[in-house]
Amino acid sequence: MFLSRLAEDAELVRAYLNDAITCADTLAEAMRYAVRGGKGLRGFLVIESARLHGFDPTRALPAAAAIEAVHAYSLVHDDLPAMDDDALRRGQPTLHVKWDEATAILAGDALQALAFELLTDEGLGVARIGLVSSLAKAAGAEGMVLGQMQDIAAETARHPLTLDEITALQAGKTGALIRWSAMAGARLAGDDPRYLAQYATALGLAFQIADDVLDIEGDIAMTGKAVGKDIAAGKATFVSLMGLEAAKDKAAELVDTACAALVQYGEAADTLRQAAHFVISRKV
Ligand code: IPE
Ligand code: IPE
Ligand code: MG
Ligand code: MG
Ligand code: MG
Repeated sequence: MFLSRLAEDAELVRAYLNDAITCADTLAEAMRYAVRGGKGLRGFLVIESARLHGFDPTRALPAAAAIEAVHAYSLVHDDLPAMDDDALRRGQPTLHVKWDEATAILAGDALQALAFELLTDEGLGVARIGLVSSLAKAAGAEGMVLGQMQDIAAETARHPLTLDEITALQAGKTGALIRWSAMAGARLAGDDPRYLAQYATALGLAFQIADDVLDIEGDIAMTGKAVGKDIAAGKATFVSLMGLEAAKDKAAELVDTACAALVQYGEAADTLRQAAHFVISRKV
């Protein structure tokens, strides 16, 4: 039930994004390649948080497409030789391997710009200015890009990062886009996003811990990306600091925290609760 809802939402968002990529030739091909596959979790969070707040999920599609465009761009750049230097993503060659580095950089740039264009859609109503400014913060130097900088810097840091430093790094690198996604529904409806913010803060951290666990225990055929790379690269993760079992316990605790934040929504938030459980049980 949950998995089919996730897949359905992801399909709607991907179709919307493919239609929104209107440029010509190689650039369009590369951008479409970057948005293919993937779980679509961030777009799903936009759609489901909109539904929860009584905002028409179809009208929320441009916002869901926007966050998946930013996420896809972040992955294309994350895989570049100057960053994680990965050759496989979503079960296919990474964009710079299939084309070249210049195409990967530029397709990523174009996806990021497209995201902000999508957020100007009038169907998003008066919330769209707030969505633009909050996405700029979440994606940029106060959010994802900052976290990516800290992630790369940690590889060569003299001392291992502390738990607080890793928490802050991951809140930027992964948490910021996930928070933006889950808060979007409340923002679209003009409601208070504070409970969704609490949910997503815990969810985002649990999500990244699960990603770090999958790097050790995961299977390349399932994850569709290289595994076993984080230790060799000297990445600072909950797993590197506290070990596998304690990191898994921490992730499970965070899922409980995420679910508890939804208490005032009652059963209407069950899909989001299932998403939280999925995040730490997933093999993909
Ligand atoms: C991978 O994100 C990158 C991280 C932030 C850990 P996802 O696991 O959501 O990747 P896709 O979109 O499903 O491929
Ligand atoms: C990537 O984190 C986070 C972003 C792209 C912002 P990782 O480097 O751990 O993601 P994977 O494991 O390559 O998907
Ligand atoms: Mg990385
Ligand atoms: Mg990576
Ligand atoms: Mg990873």
